[in-house]
Amino acid sequence: MHRYVRQEDGTNGMAEPRKIIIDTDPGQDDAAAIMLAFGSPEEISVLGITTVAGNVPLSYTSRNARIICELCGRTDIKVFAGAEKPMVRKLVTAEHVHGKTGLDGPELDEPTMALAPGHAVDFIIETLRGEPEGTVTLCTLGPLTNIGMAFQKAPDIIPRVRELVMMGGGFFEGGNITPAAEFNIYVDPEAADIVFRSGVPIVMMPLDVTHKLLTRKDRVKRMAEIGTRPAIAMVEMLEFFERFDIEKYGSDGGPLHDPTVVAYLLKPELFKGRDCNVEIEVKSELTVGMTVVDWWQVTDRKHNAKVMRDVDADGFFDLLIERFARI
Ligand code: RIB
Ligand code: CA
Repeated sequence: MHRYVRQEDGTNGMAEPRKIIIDTDPGQDDAAAIMLAFGSPEEISVLGITTVAGNVPLSYTSRNARIICELCGRTDIKVFAGAEKPMVRKLVTAEHVHGKTGLDGPELDEPTMALAPGHAVDFIIETLRGEPEGTVTLCTLGPLTNIGMAFQKAPDIIPRVRELVMMGGGFFEGGNITPAAEFNIYVDPEAADIVFRSGVPIVMMPLDVTHKLLTRKDRVKRMAEIGTRPAIAMVEMLEFFERFDIEKYGSDGGPLHDPTVVAYLLKPELFKGRDCNVEIEVKSELTVGMTVVDWWQVTDRKHNAKVMRDVDADGFFDLLIERFARI
């Protein structure tokens, strides 16, 4: 099935898949985001995956990214290891949510594909310099350390980025690792501060959206009914991953955070939000990592992010399940 878009001359031309780099700290929900991208080859071309320390240390996130590629039959994908710690602070991890390996749940073989040579930050820089300006989208699913480092090392790449779509932050929903901060921002607030001040076009998927996307039993059952190895493995990952949030929030399933980033590329109409100013708290120990969103425009600070607040949850899971079935 090809996608066509109206050309200037009025003809229907076939749309080129959107070129993306996925920066990630897998993490079961990261795995769901990567699988959603792999299930959408007509719309998305994954130029590479860059790993960062976050949910678990870099050695595990780099292992896990390759496991997910092999699980989905995508050993063609280049996986580059990136930062093993935040730009300034000590690493904080989340084994209590994701388990020791970060992909606890299913029985998974160790990866056989090798890491791509070179550092993730250099891959990001070289790819943005090598591809035509404005054609590469950065999809970030973890702490922003690799991106912050790339923007600091090579500021010339910033205007070359088409868009940076990120899972992170929270405002009306507060935080999940502290009362004020969401994990991805909390782990590396200095990197987030660089990114939000950079001028790169940002689409932000905060907890305000992801907490409306619960892995309810009926949704997980539909995923299991796909019956393929990737789908079953994903179900087992989610059943492990959600136990922490069900306990914490008493909800029917856990919030599925990271696939929102890829779902936005596929069906932006699923989401509702507005252009806002967002600043990152980097000083106060009480609120460090907080994303201060000027949702009600009470300041004249420049809009630097499209902040999402609402989502069509059923439409999101329909998309996820439909695309998982294609792998
Ligand atoms: O706060 C949720 C985010 O932190 C998700 O990206 C999850 O994978 C963890 O990285
Ligand atoms: Ca993540």
